[in-house]
Amino acid sequence: MTRDLDPEEVEAIYDDLAATYELEWRRRDHRSMHLGYYDEDHQEPGAAATNTMRLLSEAAGIESGERVLNIGCGAGEGAVWNARTHGATVLGVDIGDHQLELARENARESGVGDRVSFARDDFHELSSVPDDSMDVVWGLEALSHSPDRTRALEQARRVLVADGRVAFTDIFLRSETDDERIRETEEALGLRLGTIDGFEQTLAETGFEGVVIDDKTDGIRESTASRRQFARLAHPVGRVLGLAGLVTERQLAAFRASSLIHELVEDDVLGYYLVTADR
Ligand SMILES: C[S@@+](CC[C@H](N)C(=O)[O-])C[C@H]1O[C@@H](n2cnc3c(N)ncnc32)[C@H](O)[C@@H]1O
Repeated sequence: MTRDLDPEEVEAIYDDLAATYELEWRRRDHRSMHLGYYDEDHQEPGAAATNTMRLLSEAAGIESGERVLNIGCGAGEGAVWNARTHGATVLGVDIGDHQLELARENARESGVGDRVSFARDDFHELSSVPDDSMDVVWGLEALSHSPDRTRALEQARRVLVADGRVAFTDIFLRSETDDERIRETEEALGLRLGTIDGFEQTLAETGFEGVVIDDKTDGIRESTASRRQFARLAHPVGRVLGLAGLVTERQLAAFRASSLIHELVEDDVLGYYLVTADR
């Protein structure tokens, strides 16, 4: 039985990884915390990370004036993107105070701050979001942190209007496995990885219809490879710095997990999927 995952633990992991993300943000020139989707027209880390948001928003069919709930909004790039590119009004929720601080700063600087707001909220609770108040629930690599996707989807359904829809991209197991590398990755990054078939079933059990599952793994291989390359360099340096107390055990574990994710994708244990469904 997988143990429950305390939101405070996830928040602490992200606080510890902030410095690592900051290095990535400089290469991207924006603060997204997700894998980049590479294709012919998107070959740079920043363009590829934006491309992942583009794919998800287009699949969700977000239209001007629609209300979007961005679950696990991180530093707010997705929220600002949907407001700026699709003319949406966006509420971003996250459990990380540091991410929310960055997200609010992001919105202030974006020029679309009047249509973007943020709240500290767990996507299993959504206590800041009224019933029937959203057209789209949009999540980029957030649900992989969920120990209870049924509860998360029930909440998504509650806040959606009758013709609302959900759109998510995330890492899923291709099938059940007892691969030890999965446990290690989950513990290091505060993840709870489920199978894509299990997620499809959970969507059906929570009442969602018209489920579309699109395997996008090929597009993110370059991104997982680049994170592994960084982790391979950072891990030995980090071990030395760790002796001086400059790098934490959690950061070292996260570097190793970044390498493992690439291996697991290449070994066909993990896949990257774009999932949409109607309420
Ligand atoms: C991989 S990051 C992705 C952030 C953002 N979607 C992006 O693409 O830049 C996952 C985010 O989900 C948040 N998160 C994890 N569990 C959560 C929960 N139960 N409720 C709300 N946010 C959560 C984390 O704090 C983190 O900011």
